[in-house]
Amino acid sequence: MSQDKPKIAAAEAALDFIETGMVVGVGTGSTVDRFIAALPKVKGKIDGVVASSNATEEKLRQQNLTVMTLDRSGDLPLYVDGADEATRHRSLIKGGGGALTREKVIAAASEKFVCIVDPSKMVDVLGAYPLPVEVIPMAKSYVARQLVKIWGQPMLRQGFDTDNGNLILDVRNLDIPDPVKLEQSINQIAGVVANGIFARRGADMLLVGSESGVESIS
Ligand code: 5RP
Repeated sequence: MSQDKPKIAAAEAALDFIETGMVVGVGTGSTVDRFIAALPKVKGKIDGVVASSNATEEKLRQQNLTVMTLDRSGDLPLYVDGADEATRHRSLIKGGGGALTREKVIAAASEKFVCIVDPSKMVDVLGAYPLPVEVIPMAKSYVARQLVKIWGQPMLRQGFDTDNGNLILDVRNLDIPDPVKLEQSINQIAGVVANGIFARRGADMLLVGSESGVESIS
């Protein structure tokens, strides 16, 4: 089934969180692309946007929005982004598009993180989707060996550099019943820049679009 309508429904529902004068953090991915496409409807309310990736920045500029750095904006009232997996506890796996580190920074700097997904992203336990881990290039083999010790199967994402000039290991075969613990454990490995578990700072609100409407989970 096409996820187009559910993605659009979730993306348009996120517009309701935008208030006059806000600077809005904007994530990366195909669901966020629908959000960016809908932003002209509320353009008069938005003072600026902070992009989580170079690709998103380009799309925001095409909408003639004022793109700011996080240094200039300071903390944000609102961040809107998608996810690769989400639980009803609002823990996430993100980084399928490789933008996880900037996404994590913007989420941390935001008062409210609204996550927009279609129903195919909803899971009971995280881990079926390969977990992205951003690593500095010289550490890739060392980090991969440490990830094997926690029962993962890391694979280097071929032909891919992050916007920060780093590499991504996608870790398959993980079962993540305690996402906060695993997020912290992976962060302890030297050479890891960030991992795609968003549990310590998960979403504040999940908007799950469907053919028939949008479910809000908070
Ligand atoms: C990018 C992300 C995206 O939010 C995630 O991959 C979901 O993308 P899509 O909306 O295309 O399914 O984390 O790094």
